[in-house]
Amino acid sequence: TFAPRVFSGIKPSGGLTLGNYLGAIKRFVEMQGGDFETIFCVMDLHAITVWQDPEELKRATREVAAGYLASGIDPEKSILFNQSRVAAHAELGWLFSCVARMGWMNRMTQFKEKAGKNAEKQSLGLYAYPSLMAADILAYHATHVPVGEDQKQHVELTRDIAAKFNHDYGTEFFPLTTPVIEGPAMRVMNLRDGTKKMSKSGESDMERINMIDDADAIAKKFKKARTDPAPLPESLDELKDRPEAKNLVDIYAGLSGVSAEQVIAEYGGAGWGQFKPALADLAVEKLAPISSEMARLMDDPAEIDRIMAKGAERARAIADPIVAKTSEIMGL
Ligand code: ADP
Ligand code: NA
Repeated sequence: TFAPRVFSGIKPSGGLTLGNYLGAIKRFVEMQGGDFETIFCVMDLHAITVWQDPEELKRATREVAAGYLASGIDPEKSILFNQSRVAAHAELGWLFSCVARMGWMNRMTQFKEKAGKNAEKQSLGLYAYPSLMAADILAYHATHVPVGEDQKQHVELTRDIAAKFNHDYGTEFFPLTTPVIEGPAMRVMNLRDGTKKMSKSGESDMERINMIDDADAIAKKFKKARTDPAPLPESLDELKDRPEAKNLVDIYAGLSGVSAEQVIAEYGGAGWGQFKPALADLAVEKLAPISSEMARLMDDPAEIDRIMAKGAERARAIADPIVAKTSEIMGL
């Protein structure tokens, strides 16, 4: 049996979005100090699977760290670090790329979405991304991974890799990790195109709420969010076929910590002229203290770097022996 341990992370591939906050950071904070040992990472090795300007990558890496800290990740209670500072990730990633099968990678929908028609032109790293992700998780024998809906398939692949390793080497060395996807806002959608996920690397700034947006920007973006003209429905069932409306209700629910059903109970029948300003006010109320603390932290990069370096040391103390043992099991 494995001690209850959470691992999760965020790529510094742009500024943090409301999707990252609701689907990831807010839930990480909730899990901290409970039954789990908690380990949170800035996934810079994943970011470079697509081109990143080196200076901008450094900035974005510190922004993700600041986002964690400002939201309430406590570096005393959780291990917080940058992926590239712990060599065990890259090492185990290679070992797992010899366990994972090409056919498994070929089924990954996120690669297909990101590569589009240009699969041949993508980096080998983008293709192999899920095997590195398995290493991120399993280098800590993590039992649970809180993620948004988009990462479910990758965590399932992590289980496949653990199971194949255990089977091939006649061992039970790796746990079969459980994805934790709970809450109303596990797939926050783009504000202008309700069929697309809200993402850091999306096309236009009006499509997403950034964690560092000011109150005016937040209000403006929600006001311009695409919706159908009908008022909010009176039941969850009617919401199903209205993706843009569902998205805004889910965001409201996620921010206020209630269920979508409760939001409908309060706002069913209301028009957008009433709901959108209420949503904007709520978002400002929740995000403003975080964004001002992020700005304060970003003004002191040396302090961020010091916190992250300490976290990396603690991470290595767990991951290094696990990767050494993996090598030994494989006969290396
Ligand atoms: P992005 O897609 O913004 O680049 P990452 O791939 O770094 O984000 O994902 C970091 C975490 O944030 C993952 O757990 C992911 O599932 C979650 N996440 C990202 N976007 C969203 C979203 N739109 N809704 C809910 N969760 C999200
Ligand atoms: Na993603």
